[in-house]
Amino acid sequence: MTVSRRTLLGGSAAGVVAVTLPAQANAQWKAAAADQARPLLHLPSRSKMSLEGEWRYILDPFDAAKRGDNARRTFWKNFRPPETGPLVEYDWSQSPVIDLPRDWNSHAPELQWYDGPVYFRRTFNVTLVPGMRRFLAFEGVNYHATVWLNAEKLGEHEGGFTPFAFDVSDRLKAGENAVVVCADSRHHPEAVPSDYTDWQNYGGITRAVWLVDEAATRIDDWFVRLEGDNVVVDVALVGPDAANAPVRVELGKLRLRGRTGADGKVRLSVRNRLALWSPENPVLHSFYVESGGVSAGEKIGLRTIATRGRELLFNGKPVFLRGISLHEEPIGPVGTRRMREADARRLLGEAKALGCNFVRLAHYPHSEIMLRVADELGLIVWAEVPVYWEQIRYESAHTLGLARSMLRDMILRDRNRCSIGLWSVANETPQEAARTRFLRTLIADARTLDPTRLITAALNKNVDVGGAKEGESRFAVTDELGRDLDVLAINQYEAWYSKRTPDQIDQVSFTTPYDKPLMFSEFGADALARHRGPRENLWTEDYQAWLYEENFKLIDRTEGCVGLSPWVLKDFRSPRRWHGRFQQFWNRKGLISETGVRKAAFASLAAYYARKAGR
Ligand code: GCU
Repeated sequence: MTVSRRTLLGGSAAGVVAVTLPAQANAQWKAAAADQARPLLHLPSRSKMSLEGEWRYILDPFDAAKRGDNARRTFWKNFRPPETGPLVEYDWSQSPVIDLPRDWNSHAPELQWYDGPVYFRRTFNVTLVPGMRRFLAFEGVNYHATVWLNAEKLGEHEGGFTPFAFDVSDRLKAGENAVVVCADSRHHPEAVPSDYTDWQNYGGITRAVWLVDEAATRIDDWFVRLEGDNVVVDVALVGPDAANAPVRVELGKLRLRGRTGADGKVRLSVRNRLALWSPENPVLHSFYVESGGVSAGEKIGLRTIATRGRELLFNGKPVFLRGISLHEEPIGPVGTRRMREADARRLLGEAKALGCNFVRLAHYPHSEIMLRVADELGLIVWAEVPVYWEQIRYESAHTLGLARSMLRDMILRDRNRCSIGLWSVANETPQEAARTRFLRTLIADARTLDPTRLITAALNKNVDVGGAKEGESRFAVTDELGRDLDVLAINQYEAWYSKRTPDQIDQVSFTTPYDKPLMFSEFGADALARHRGPRENLWTEDYQAWLYEENFKLIDRTEGCVGLSPWVLKDFRSPRRWHGRFQQFWNRKGLISETGVRKAAFASLAAYYARKAGR
């Protein structure tokens, strides 16, 4: 049984949540996942044509086109009747143009807060090549995508931050083809994330679209990692000649050879002799894989990450994570989700300027380019799926299925990125049985898909067991989920959402009974750039810097603290930030403003990180 999107959006049947037993939940997940278009991995390494550029679009605020098959509004059919009719109430050639990929919210002022379906269309020319496989690949469409090619429906995808693709080899025609995408930004009650977050829900085709060419038998996937002293490489071929095929791999000066099994897969391993990647020395090696004349390549780094009691070990040595959190929003006066390489370099460049060796990419899988730049610049990454806050329907099979497919697709897309050290399965979620069961399922999936990385989650429901003196707080991280995590991460907003002032942060301490590393994944305060004043005044850069200074003392005296990623690198758009002077729908906890102005706390954190790095 799969629950249709229309029903989920409260079409006919009101209230759709179904509580199911694990086995059934699994079956339903399989059903839901089967419906869900899957990603074509390793897009940067494939031969492809970009479908970026001019597309036309039609807004459908009442979702009318999907209400019954009515020729007057079946946009995906591109019906062009003669002047005498029949009546059709759209004409793509007369519809507005948008330069994709990008969100529509930053495209036109009247669309800033639009939340609903938008149809996009473009044409492209193709020369058919016998035997060639062709894929229409999307890197990200927020939130739900329905895709047609030449008026035929290809399928759907739910989730705004993970890739998906359709095999269109038998659907393309020689010459002009037309693709139509309905991107619906609405988040139904069982969505992931829910419709209530502290960031702008940028709608649309927000990441690149490609037409990918592949041989009949393609190199579908590879996973390169260190296991102990060995480099291990899994290669998977798909196609008629996938079984029993010779495979050749080069990684730097290492050479590996083997033959696939009946399932088209092979695991190769060799003792490692290559330099390891680290933030101080982000060395990447050329990776090349070939089989049957088909080949692919990319840059890959090798490293290990592990825990030992309360220590975090990177390449076997204790490490302290000097981090910062950030959203996927480029520096610029208008908030947008359009992330090009230069934008990623600028954002992560600011993190490097802070002296960071770590970034928390919140709260969803960021663009692949962000991870590749992090590999290059030497930044360890925390990557996360948007299981965010208590509004998530933890008892829903559909929601669990979505979260599992998002986690799966994030890990499959990014597990060759050496920068990624931690997979996060959640942010600030309630300590309830359904939630814990939900997250334990995700954690088990992550460990199966990638046993080489650490699992974490941002926790904020910590118990104040009371301090030694009056007015003191001793927060104990006792969340039962802690048992399943490798690193415990704390979100705390002392002296912002709590009634304390920064100087009273010395009344606060954090402990945990778990023999595991702790880190502070969020703390911070809003400040309007260039708004200065007495440090006691909220919204000033001075208050923010003061709060940071006092948090540094808390961090230094927290036993087993292995790092931090303050909230947040840059002011970002949020529909929940209403202050007419200090916010204007920007969350102002950035250390830089939306246009890149560095606030006083930027220097505070940079100085702290210089001390931590012994510089
Ligand atoms: C939360 C949350 C963030 C949010 C931040 C804030 O902890 O994780 O997404 O933006 O606090 O309140 O600024």
